[in-house]
Amino acid sequence: MCRALLDLDLPLPLFRQGKVRNVYDLGDKLLFVATDRISAFDVIMANGIPEKGKVLNMISVFWFDLTKNITPNHVITSDIDEIISVEPRLFEYRDILDARSMLVKKAEPIPVECIIRGYISGSGWKDYKKTGKVCDIDIPEGLKESDKLGEPIFTPSTKADSGHDENISQQEAMDRVGADVFKLLKEKSVAIYETARDHAASRGIIIADTKFEFGKIGDEIILMDEVLTPDSSRFWPAAEYAAGEPQKSFDKQFVRDYLETLDWDKTPPGPELPLDIVQKTAEKYREVYKILTGKEL
Ligand SMILES: Nc1ncnc2c1ncn2[C@@H]1O[C@H](COP(=O)(O)OP(=O)(O)OP(=O)(O)O)[C@@H](O)[C@H]1O
Ligand SMILES: [Mg+2]
Repeated sequence: MCRALLDLDLPLPLFRQGKVRNVYDLGDKLLFVATDRISAFDVIMANGIPEKGKVLNMISVFWFDLTKNITPNHVITSDIDEIISVEPRLFEYRDILDARSMLVKKAEPIPVECIIRGYISGSGWKDYKKTGKVCDIDIPEGLKESDKLGEPIFTPSTKADSGHDENISQQEAMDRVGADVFKLLKEKSVAIYETARDHAASRGIIIADTKFEFGKIGDEIILMDEVLTPDSSRFWPAAEYAAGEPQKSFDKQFVRDYLETLDWDKTPPGPELPLDIVQKTAEKYREVYKILTGKEL
């Protein structure tokens, strides 16, 4: 197995470093590089999962392409030679960057995260148990944890610069972005989710929920960030789906199960994952890529 790429040092100004991706600033463009870092319970683990970044990047590439008739998006290219022709300083990093990089148009972020839920889980399930609603949306009584919702629901949240994003009501989201933009975000988000959900379902993966980000370039609103990856969505193996409890994560279950055996308080620094957990998880990521796209990485 090749080594995991945990970080990299490119001769470009850093725009942002997330838990998984390094983002570089190229003026009116950004270069996203997905490393092999993995987080669990919001903490980055000490070691990474070889090729995970490639899987994540290529899954986004796949969905951006599949949904480009629903919405324009920020992708310029994910082809490494095209990226190098735009930014020749990256020539000597070709092997490191190949398959894990995406050159995009820099947009002005629209300050709500567009969460779509097709199943009731996570913070949605917590809200529902307490209030019978998710955000301000009434949900029928009597649902069990992880049940499928009749229709996917749009439950926006704030984009927090640090810490946890906070669910907000549709009215609050509308106040933040205006009624027209709100309507567009909601319609596009539902349409992208439904397309992806149906595609994944036909291949045995449930996309329980997901988060989209949109940005503005001039008057145009485009889909940006990562799309429908296991990091921005809940992916469940359909074969093992059973409502009434939390579901197994398609990609991170081995990691989570291992972490539960430790005496670790889920605060940084994250522990080192043993080799067999790393190998099994790497295999899961390759599998999810193959299932969704029909191609080997
Ligand atoms: N085309 C774009 N133009 C401008 N900003 C973008 C574009 N696409 C994504 N972004 C922003 O780039 C940032 C990417 O950060 P990233 O997702 O790596 O880290 P994070 O969101 O801070 O943390 P996490 O690792 O938990 O996701 C986000 O703030 C996102 O809104
Ligand atoms: Mg992010």
